[in-house]
Amino acid sequence: MTSQQHTASFSREAAFDLLRGVNAYTRSTLMQGLAEVAARHPEAEIDVAFNHKQVACKTWARDAVYDTLGGDIGSILVLGGWYGVFAGILFDDPRFTIGKIVSVDIDETVGPVARTLNGAWADRFDAVTEDMYALPYRDHRADLVVNTSCEHIADLRAWLDLLPKGARVLLQSNDYFSEPTHISCVASLEAFEAQAGLSTVLYAGSLPQKKYTRFMLIGEV
Ligand SMILES: C[S@@+](CC[C@H](N)C(=O)[O-])C[C@H]1O[C@@H](n2cnc3c(N)ncnc32)[C@H](O)[C@@H]1O
Repeated sequence: MTSQQHTASFSREAAFDLLRGVNAYTRSTLMQGLAEVAARHPEAEIDVAFNHKQVACKTWARDAVYDTLGGDIGSILVLGGWYGVFAGILFDDPRFTIGKIVSVDIDETVGPVARTLNGAWADRFDAVTEDMYALPYRDHRADLVVNTSCEHIADLRAWLDLLPKGARVLLQSNDYFSEPTHISCVASLEAFEAQAGLSTVLYAGSLPQKKYTRFMLIGEV
């Protein structure tokens, strides 16, 4: 077989074998979860959700949480959680002690994938299908509310107003205006701070990427 033929036939089975090898080499439980996703959810765009840019944004968030809030966090709610990659990155990091992570997404197809990815932590992880504008936040207080999909939601401030005053949040957005599903991009970190209008800002930073810059805020509503 030529290398060209092999490239054309690189399959989910090959991805599964490769990721199991990565798991064996790195001893990362999350790599085992990725291998399970490749095997059980061939339709999932996990290669998009776990590409190097997405991973860079999530490890940046993870390290900022650790530096700003510490590693002992009771409960985390992730809105627009997609395939649960951020939850897996937190669970997989031994610096953190996390009680529970619930990942919420309006897309009913992503929850099963998120549960597979986080299967090793099934007792502390759940994925639910819900519109983030329809959750009873005041009844279910989380120690940290994460939304790394702010560029995807129509009215960030209207959503933040649903949270209890003083709720701790981590927010990410970007200036990638040309992507059609990005309906709420911001041009700068200052614009993002103004859009969010947090009462307390504990961290504000930018992460330049090749095609866009990602912005992050950690603070209180
Ligand atoms: C492309 S993904 C995540 C992008 C982001 N850069 C990240 O990695 O976290 C955006 C997710 O937000 C979800 N989403 C959009 N509007 C939502 C809403 N109102 N409630 C819950 N989830 C929502 C979409 O279904 C999608 O899975």
